[in-house]
Amino acid sequence: MVTSSPTLHPDIDEVLLTQEAIAARVAQLGREIAAQYAGKRPLVVGTLKGAVVFMADLVRAMEPTPEGLQLEFVRASSYGAGTVSSGKVALSGTLAPADVEGRHVLLVEDIVDSGRTAVALLEHFKAMGAASVALVSLLSKPARRTVPCEPDFLCFEVEDKFVVGYGLDFDEQYRSLPYVGVLRPACYSPAE
Ligand code: IMP
Ligand code: MG
Repeated sequence: MVTSSPTLHPDIDEVLLTQEAIAARVAQLGREIAAQYAGKRPLVVGTLKGAVVFMADLVRAMEPTPEGLQLEFVRASSYGAGTVSSGKVALSGTLAPADVEGRHVLLVEDIVDSGRTAVALLEHFKAMGAASVALVSLLSKPARRTVPCEPDFLCFEVEDKFVVGYGLDFDEQYRSLPYVGVLRPACYSPAE
């Protein structure tokens, strides 16, 4: 069998989380969530596009699959092509209040940074009449919080560095890397 030590992408300074470490933690968290949501028909809502890779692995790790589990997506954008949040969160998606009312919503995020996106989405689903809302995140950067936000289920805390891979991007690049790595600063702040 081929082992996974992919060649390091030239724009990556350091691998923070290997493919193996991510897989092990996601498997553990998936079982934990499955146990807590058995019988709750969870509505698992991923934020496009960063959470797609994590969500795909997470739902397959929810063992045994909670009955009635459904997948949905929302789009939330606060970042342009930079690495610092604009502070405004724009939401879009096809979920109607009737789809959400009375449901136990599990919001799946790639990373909680300032906390603004997650808080805006949690409020949005509460306002749509969800029976409960909980936040699942692959990563959290507590040092950068500007609004209080604590994921209910978290895979990893990371330090204050801009990271990419496993769904996370910089200007739409690097999402398909199988690991989470620190992007070389030269890739987003070219020397003058
Ligand atoms: P927040 O609203 O500041 O918490 O930002 C959340 C969004 O910013 C995430 O869903 C990501 O899309 C993006 N983001 C924050 N930090 C990083 C990072 O280190 N790498 C890639 N995207 C990030
Ligand atoms: Mg992003």
